[in-house]
Amino acid sequence: MPNRTITELTDLRGQVAIVTGGARGIGEGIGIRLAQSGATVYLADLNGELAETTAGSLRGQGHQVRALAVDVSDVSAVQGMVEIVVAATGRLDVLVNNAGIFPFSSALQTSEDLWDRVLDVNLKSAFFASQAAARQMAQQDRGGRIVNIASIDSLHPTGNLAHYDASKGGMLMLTRSLAVEFAPLGIRVNAIAPGGITTPGAQEINTSILATGISTEELTSAFMARIPLRRMGEPDDIAMAVLYFATPLSDYATGALLVVDGGYLLT
Ligand SMILES: NC(=O)c1ccc[n+]([C@@H]2O[C@H](COP(=O)([O-])OP(=O)(O)OC[C@H]3O[C@@H](n4cnc5c(N)ncnc54)[C@H](O)[C@@H]3O)[C@@H](O)[C@H]2O)c1
Repeated sequence: MPNRTITELTDLRGQVAIVTGGARGIGEGIGIRLAQSGATVYLADLNGELAETTAGSLRGQGHQVRALAVDVSDVSAVQGMVEIVVAATGRLDVLVNNAGIFPFSSALQTSEDLWDRVLDVNLKSAFFASQAAARQMAQQDRGGRIVNIASIDSLHPTGNLAHYDASKGGMLMLTRSLAVEFAPLGIRVNAIAPGGITTPGAQEINTSILATGISTEELTSAFMARIPLRRMGEPDDIAMAVLYFATPLSDYATGALLVVDGGYLLT
């Protein structure tokens, strides 16, 4: 017979979380659910002003949410992010590596600058944020949890996104490698592979798709036709999966990839 109730298992009061790219989209959705579970949440985002607006609105609902302006592709800024949080709260329990960019570009046209930017924001950031977080978590009684936002592109290529697909494929193996190395430290590392989620970033890709010569309508209708659940995902669909990995609900899971895509990859 289980000895903890569902309410106890999802109770993050007294715990501290960082969500990168938390100002909007999937990161904002994750911040909301972690805050509702009682965690003190830091929304770390390149757009510090928007992060502050999002954090302010969540504080207005009674949650403990703060904003940090951070470019996660800058290793020293990422280390500073963890230092600021630990200086303010004394701990770090949950890190969600969510910040990411997905500019469409054909492989023939992708520049070195674009390749470096995408790999730095999507993958290098997750490694160095996890390293900084783990150095803190390893010293704590409860260890910690790291959740990486990968993508269905970790498993299956989308056209004109070779740079992005490489970063998200890397995110999957980074998750598995760190899961093995950090397990003795009491730190679990898991990943989520979202399918098509309605976010401001996903809406903005329209402009970069146009540059590839494929119409947005063609791409969207082909995508929708492949989703057995017949709808795009919402940020909260991913936030609920993060809650699973951020709490003792997933105590025996590490190095796992949870696909949350409405069944897209099955077809
Ligand atoms: N939306 C989707 O369909 C989808 C599907 C699969 C995976 N994902 C992944 O989910 C994550 C979030 O995507 P989204 O759709 O919510 O995007 P979004 O563009 O709506 O939000 C991303 C947030 O990250 C921030 N950000 C970007 N670069 C940053 C940097 N260098 N440092 C700090 N913050 C930075 C942005 O300011 C923004 O607030 C990304 O990793 C993305 O690859 C999204």
